[in-house]
Amino acid sequence: MAVVGLGTMGAGIAEVFARSGIGVVAIEADPQALRAGLGALDASLSRAVSRGRLDARQQAEIRAKVRPAPGFADAAAVDLAIEVVPERMEIKRQVFAELDRVCSPDAILATNTSSLSVTSIAAATKHPSRVVGMHFFNPAPVMGLVEVVRTVLTDDSVPTAVVDLARQLGKTPVGVGDRAGFVANALLLPYLNHAAGLLETGYATAADIDKAATAGIGLPMGPLALLDLIGLDTSLSILEVLHAEFGLARYCPTPLLRRLVTAGRTGRKVGRGIYAYPDGRSAGPIGSPDDGVDVGSAGVAPATVTVIGSADEQEADLASALASAGLNVTRNAAHATELVLVVAEAGQPVLPAALAAGRAGQAVGVHLPGGLGPGALVELIATSLTSDTAVQAAAALAERLGLAVVRAPDRPGFLVGALLYPHLADAVRMAQDGYASAADIDTAMTLGCGYPRGPFELIDDAGAADVLAGLRAMYIAYGYPALAPPPLLAEHAAAGIDFAAARRAEPRPASPGLARTGPVR
Ligand code: 3HC
Repeated sequence: MAVVGLGTMGAGIAEVFARSGIGVVAIEADPQALRAGLGALDASLSRAVSRGRLDARQQAEIRAKVRPAPGFADAAAVDLAIEVVPERMEIKRQVFAELDRVCSPDAILATNTSSLSVTSIAAATKHPSRVVGMHFFNPAPVMGLVEVVRTVLTDDSVPTAVVDLARQLGKTPVGVGDRAGFVANALLLPYLNHAAGLLETGYATAADIDKAATAGIGLPMGPLALLDLIGLDTSLSILEVLHAEFGLARYCPTPLLRRLVTAGRTGRKVGRGIYAYPDGRSAGPIGSPDDGVDVGSAGVAPATVTVIGSADEQEADLASALASAGLNVTRNAAHATELVLVVAEAGQPVLPAALAAGRAGQAVGVHLPGGLGPGALVELIATSLTSDTAVQAAAALAERLGLAVVRAPDRPGFLVGALLYPHLADAVRMAQDGYASAADIDTAMTLGCGYPRGPFELIDDAGAADVLAGLRAMYIAYGYPALAPPPLLAEHAAAGIDFAAARRAEPRPASPGLARTGPVR
């Protein structure tokens, strides 16, 4: 097989094939890019050796499978060529014109495009019936998903062969239609864009946004770190395609992304994006006003505290945890204490309870999206009347309880919900509109993006009614169409049925049979 383009993804895809024992012609005309791509491949293999996943002999065998080539002539004998060049249609078309000319007529020509129309790429070739999308996820050696994109021009045998091949590579193929962003990127990118918007508008710090996603939702990376991993330039291109196709504000790239790309801060690959990466490791956020402020470090924990609120069970749990930590705790708002903690629910503002307590300056909202427990996340909510001292004191207490702390404004969803609810609504809308099944969406996000549970499993965990209430509160507050609760979510909430139950009843399309056999060259 041949890989055309040896950037981050190209090198990763070459590694995936070579690890399966398939010889790879790595076509890269730019000597500097070729050196960088082979360097990335070597680094990845060395890391696998240092972790005991490969031995030195296997490393050498895999490496020997990858043969660099400066031009297309070496692709003449391959069964399959995958294009992994930058996301610009004119470049893709040039590559496909060359492959069309050089490859044998029965070779499959695949594109790893993240969002561009596979139909448009295919239509510009002489044999569009053999053109298919084969979309890997970054880091390609790690992520388990391959989206297989067929067009109206694709011959039936081609996606079948690619599905077979993806399985041979140890990946899980999901068949998707030729729509911008396919399944995973069409869901992921607006969520990442929204997170960048929260940073840009000062809603929360970069560190807090990423911590809310990892400690609060359980995702493997925060959205801003993930933007840096994908590349801000690639992310911007995908959003532009999504915005051109669907026209909704949620896809319109947040100005911060464009500015960072213009400034050359395109992410991890250049050592600078939203975060800085000296020596390839993140050294924290750069550029925005108060990023990285650790609200937990500066405060002095009080000795007396009042715990009030509307979330009865959590209120009792928090009061008893604080009492066990040695604090003098009261649940009577009339008692004079140093700090008032208002245990909040995601859809409910903190300010009315803080005002009712009569000590709004000392009142801090506390939201525990996953409940109390070691390492659990607590959102500390400052109303417009809360003093900084009170927030810092609450943070010191949270630290004493072993909680991870983020700071959020007193707005619907606070921080975790503000990130998650619109993302879940996008997933529901995608299923509701027949774009992909709930099961395929969950598979795409777990295997493609490392989610511990897919969006529909997350809704089932939280309860459709709670997600609906959170979204409604956000929609009322902001009025953006993307926040309007999708009818399918409202139906599940009203009927009290979870998506897993509905999914079990879903007819599953049979996987295409395997028409093509024999090794891939
Ligand atoms: N290349 C090769 N292997 C890598 C790697 C890389 N760049 N980064 C990590 N790994 C391997 C490690 O060697 C390790 O392997 P092992 O388990 O065999 O020892 C394994 O991945 C886990 O790595 P770490 O322990 O160092 O780090 P984490 O546990 O934090 O995992 C991660 C890192 C796998 C990147 C994880 O954070 C993750 O899943 N993040 C989400 C990534 C994601 O969402 N990708 C999709 C982006 S969208 C996309 O690519 C589509 C495109 O069109 C834009």
